[in-house]
Amino acid sequence: MVSIDNTNSTTVNGHGAAAAAVDDMSTDPPAPESNGSQPEFDAYRRRKLTILPLEVGTRVNCRWRDGKYHPVKVIERRKHFSGGSNYYEYYVHYTEFNRRLDEWVHLDQLDLGSVETDVDDKVEDKVTGLKMTRHQKRKIDETHIEGHEELDAASLREHEEFTKVKNIATIELGKYEIETWYFSPFPPEYNECTKLFFCEFCLNFMKRKEQLQRHMKKCDLKHPPGDEIYRDKTLSMFEVDGKKNKIYGQNLCYLAKLFLDHKTLYYDVDLFLFYVLCECDDRGCHMVGYFSKEKQSEESYNLACILTLPPYQRKGYGKFLIAFSYELSKKEAKVGTPERPLSDLGLLSYRGYWTRVLLDILKKHKGNISIKELSDMTAIKAEDILTTLQSLELIQYRKGQHVICADPKVLDRHLKAAGRGGPDVESSKLIWTPYKEQN
Ligand code: ACO
Ligand code: ZN
Repeated sequence: MVSIDNTNSTTVNGHGAAAAAVDDMSTDPPAPESNGSQPEFDAYRRRKLTILPLEVGTRVNCRWRDGKYHPVKVIERRKHFSGGSNYYEYYVHYTEFNRRLDEWVHLDQLDLGSVETDVDDKVEDKVTGLKMTRHQKRKIDETHIEGHEELDAASLREHEEFTKVKNIATIELGKYEIETWYFSPFPPEYNECTKLFFCEFCLNFMKRKEQLQRHMKKCDLKHPPGDEIYRDKTLSMFEVDGKKNKIYGQNLCYLAKLFLDHKTLYYDVDLFLFYVLCECDDRGCHMVGYFSKEKQSEESYNLACILTLPPYQRKGYGKFLIAFSYELSKKEAKVGTPERPLSDLGLLSYRGYWTRVLLDILKKHKGNISIKELSDMTAIKAEDILTTLQSLELIQYRKGQHVICADPKVLDRHLKAAGRGGPDVESSKLIWTPYKEQN
């Protein structure tokens, strides 16, 4: 995990102009809920006059890319100069979806008939039985939807406040232009940038394409700094020590944060090793993803952050990186677990990996096997084995004890659902000494 001192970071898009009466109705979109009759349209205009511009915090339905309306909350607003003097754009969070889908929208995407004014009457939360305002209850529900259960309310509020609006919208990296997912706290001199240009080898980032072109002429790296510890045909893994390659480590963290939500960034990368996966060709080794790992972890974390860059996702590289992290743990003769919280996509990838590895063993194994034995064979922490098998309903309570149920047909069904693994990690091709022994 990588941390940034959020208190020093500023959002660049947060203009928060004071609410004023709407003076420009000429750009009116048709009322989405209106059937076009004059009285209805007049009522719509009157309502619009009283609610526009929308306040930050407003809840309303918004037309998404699927063409359907979904509930959103207004996170920020800014004046849009091509419209009238009081025409605003709104940065919205779709309350049913992950924050990576937050975006700027125009007024005509919003169904103003659905604008909600917050009623502060108390409602009961069915899970906790606590009485709370609708707003508090919704906050808890949203938190659960997004899988942020492990953050307390105060940290979640703080996190959302500082990271509410994406600052960098796109990056250029190698041959790809990539849309970003989340806020990343780049240094203040990048506050006005919405696009950054990265050198794909040293990961230095620049404000302008010409700067990158000049940089590429003199940058002599053709692969990540550090040692190549694995090579299988065109796939390579490099180990980069954050202490020896501080700038690279920090650049990688800035870049990764654009796609990782609940990870804070440490400028202090000394404590981490970075394992960078590359696709290699005659132009060099191009980063496709990475994971970071603390040099020493009291909590037996074998992975802090994992990322596959968006153009390379869904090709099995996430599974490869996860498998690789356990391969390192096996060499260290330790069990490992990923640092929490896991993102939605992180959890899916881990669940898939754990299921495949454990069920493959159960399928082949004859006779009894314990969780401890499974853990020794796979380097997967016992708790993760237990939760995986429990979620697949493979643990049963019989004659006073818990047993693993390994009906071959049931195992096959789960294995099929877990999908295929990524490229194999050939342990014989891993040339690596654990950090402790290196030092
Ligand atoms: N939609 C649905 N399922 C998905 C998606 C998606 N967009 N992406 C991955 N999955 C699931 C699928 O089950 C997939 O298996 P399948 O393709 O066989 O169905 C499985 O995850 C893994 O797929 P891979 O191709 O091996 O993984 P990928 O290379 O896409 O990387 C990763 C997965 C690393 C989680 C990637 O989505 C990513 O970088 N996300 C952004 C950063 C992030 O969330 N990292 C994890 C944070 S938690 C932590 O760092 C400890
Ligand atoms: Zn460079």
